[in-house]
Amino acid sequence: MLEISHIDVYYGDLQALWDVSLTIGDGEIVTLVGSNGAGKSTLMKTISGLLKIRAGYIDCDSIRLDRLPVHRIVEQGISMVPEGRRIFPQMSVLENLEMGASINPARKVRQHTLKRIYELFPILKDRAKQLAGTLSGGEQQMLAIGRALMSQPKILLIDEMSLGLSPLLVQEFCRVIKGINKLSKLTVFLVEQDVQLALSMAHRGYVIENGRIVGQGEAKELLCSEEIKEAYLGMEKADKT
Ligand SMILES: Nc1ncnc2c1ncn2[C@@H]1O[C@H](COP(=O)(O)OP(=O)(O)O)[C@@H](O)[C@H]1O
Ligand SMILES: [Mg+2]
Repeated sequence: MLEISHIDVYYGDLQALWDVSLTIGDGEIVTLVGSNGAGKSTLMKTISGLLKIRAGYIDCDSIRLDRLPVHRIVEQGISMVPEGRRIFPQMSVLENLEMGASINPARKVRQHTLKRIYELFPILKDRAKQLAGTLSGGEQQMLAIGRALMSQPKILLIDEMSLGLSPLLVQEFCRVIKGINKLSKLTVFLVEQDVQLALSMAHRGYVIENGRIVGQGEAKELLCSEEIKEAYLGMEKADKT
């Protein structure tokens, strides 16, 4: 469904992604893991159209996404929860959610979508009139995910879902994301520094280092691989003697 093929991305003269290729199939949860500065957010922003590619292509159901402006990419069903949530603090929770439904097909069904989001995160309904800036970190993450869902995406991109959240809240978000993936067949592309978490949620995963994809596979296999354990899970190689 989403195909990223041999893309190069730069910030000015500085190259941030080298020859990156990956695919995300319908209904999958795919994760991209890697350390700080590896290029995860750069890839997310590129898919969303905030950064341009200098080589390769990005294709979604046979439409070239990399040639479209940001709002047209949202219309193609791609919606991102950015790193650090980026909600509008001076607007109410409800106004933030409505911002997510600014594209046309989504606007017509926004009352229905809103009801679904309130079912996923009931606290957002309780706080609908409150200024978003007064929400706790976890509630802001719920709002950011809710806002992204308001555009009725086919593919939800989540950049650093767990950052700054308590383990209990992280478990709650995992449950919700896995639930909507299963029930609504929503495709999810999840970027995480918490490699253990990401691989335990996803079907497949890719590993990025210094702007290059250096590994990929079934999430279960990656979780068991010695390289991943050593590099990201802080485990020593098992002593084979
Ligand atoms: N706005 C920017 N201008 C220049 N370089 C940037 C910018 N944003 C990120 N970078 C660089 O691109 C690389 C990848 O960053 P990023 O995609 O944010 O990594 P990650 O999300 O994996 O932590 C890093 O070397 C970072 O310093
Ligand atoms: Mg990042």
